[in-house]
Amino acid sequence: MHDTPNPCNVLLLGTGGREHALAWKLRQSPRLGTLWVQPDANAGIRALGTPCDAPLTPRERFFLKSWLDRNDVHLVVVGPEGPLADGIVDDLAAPGRRIFGPVRDAARLEFDKAFAKGMMKQASVPTADGRSFSNYEQARAFVEARDVPLVIKATGLCAGKGVVVCADRDEALAALERIMRLREFGNAGAAVVVEERLVGQEMSVLALVDGRTITVLDPCQDHKQVGEGDTGPNTGGMGSYCPTPLASETVMGEISREVLVPTVDALRRDGIEFRGVLYAGMMLTAGGPKVLEFNTRFGDPETQPLMARLQGDLVDILWKTAGGELDAAEVSFDPRAACCVVVCSGGYPGKVTAGRPIEGVEDAARAAGPGEEVIVFHAGTAINPDGALVTAGGRVFGVTALAGDLARAQVVANEAARRIRFEGAFFRRDIGHRVLGTAATPKGPGTAVWVGA
Ligand code: AMP
Ligand code: GLY
Repeated sequence: MHDTPNPCNVLLLGTGGREHALAWKLRQSPRLGTLWVQPDANAGIRALGTPCDAPLTPRERFFLKSWLDRNDVHLVVVGPEGPLADGIVDDLAAPGRRIFGPVRDAARLEFDKAFAKGMMKQASVPTADGRSFSNYEQARAFVEARDVPLVIKATGLCAGKGVVVCADRDEALAALERIMRLREFGNAGAAVVVEERLVGQEMSVLALVDGRTITVLDPCQDHKQVGEGDTGPNTGGMGSYCPTPLASETVMGEISREVLVPTVDALRRDGIEFRGVLYAGMMLTAGGPKVLEFNTRFGDPETQPLMARLQGDLVDILWKTAGGELDAAEVSFDPRAACCVVVCSGGYPGKVTAGRPIEGVEDAARAAGPGEEVIVFHAGTAINPDGALVTAGGRVFGVTALAGDLARAQVVANEAARRIRFEGAFFRRDIGHRVLGTAATPKGPGTAVWVGA
């Protein structure tokens, strides 16, 4: 066992909302030395760290390694899935240094849906019935023979896109054509998973895993559709909350026993040690919880309410997880509820205009009442050459409130979000409605939904 370095120099990879939440929590650690961040990170991250001049393309790993040596970096925290799929964790390992995230073979759970499906079958992990195909004609024949609602998924990484939830066989055939023949997602669509459509509430269960020990974090839910009442096209996430009252102890016990433990064990039997975050996207169906997908990183925007509530020293927690010592880390949560409301640029999830000046961020942070807190996490923001804070993407902020219960956290987050002003700004006021029972307009029947946009 190696004590967590003190001070511990950290390189945080990633540029968005999730990474601002991680940077904010890392900053609270008394052990944090230099926090290196990407020069192209959002303005919130840039304000908390030192921009690094490290070479970050997959081809430059050798140079990145010597950069880490020269700058005495102890811990690298990998936010997004791209570098994990590129094998960054395998490439950077060195004595005295730890890389938070799974090795490439373990990250396959996210970047290869066919692999994940096969592993779940083999380990009897509950998931939608489905099959993988790399041959278009075979996939087509399979779809033609089914008369149940289907979901078609490109197997590779598509930045949250590449999943089509279909109402009927014609939509499923059209989706197959788009993914496999027209290659709308490029090579990610060289193979597909075709599976039954599940019905129920979705829940995100994230766990820290160090190879053997699994620490399940408080469960979250997110809202993917752009419009209030869960209407309109899907997005990268319009808001999230933690904890969700849907997760009874029984449900969480079932997910641990039937999903997380068998998954980590199945990998280990194949000689693959999973270290990092295992994120199970679950559907709570009438037949029990079933896995929709695995991610092998923190979720966005789930990380915002998770970090707002996490108690303990994140440098220490990530260091110990990466080193197989998670049992010695202290992880607990603030009893308050957290609600994250995403403030977006007009036009999102379609085309947006960047560079709009932003006002009201400090004012937003003051929306909290006694015993409450507001944290304005940045997502797509930048500082322009004149030094002004401007928009730089579709999702601009994840305004996160901590309050006594979810209903109050939603009210506070909405009030704070309202105080942030830029041309075209909009947000959903109903984050949490699925469990609060407000403004619950059911999804319209029928139309195909393209996930992520
Ligand atoms: P995935 O990337 O596999 O999680 O899919 C993204 C989204 O598509 C999920 O969050 C669900 O909303 C939806 N989805 C995926 N698989 C299914 C399924 N089998 N049944 C119903 N919805 C699904
Ligand atoms: N919130 C969904 C994701 O991070 O993939």
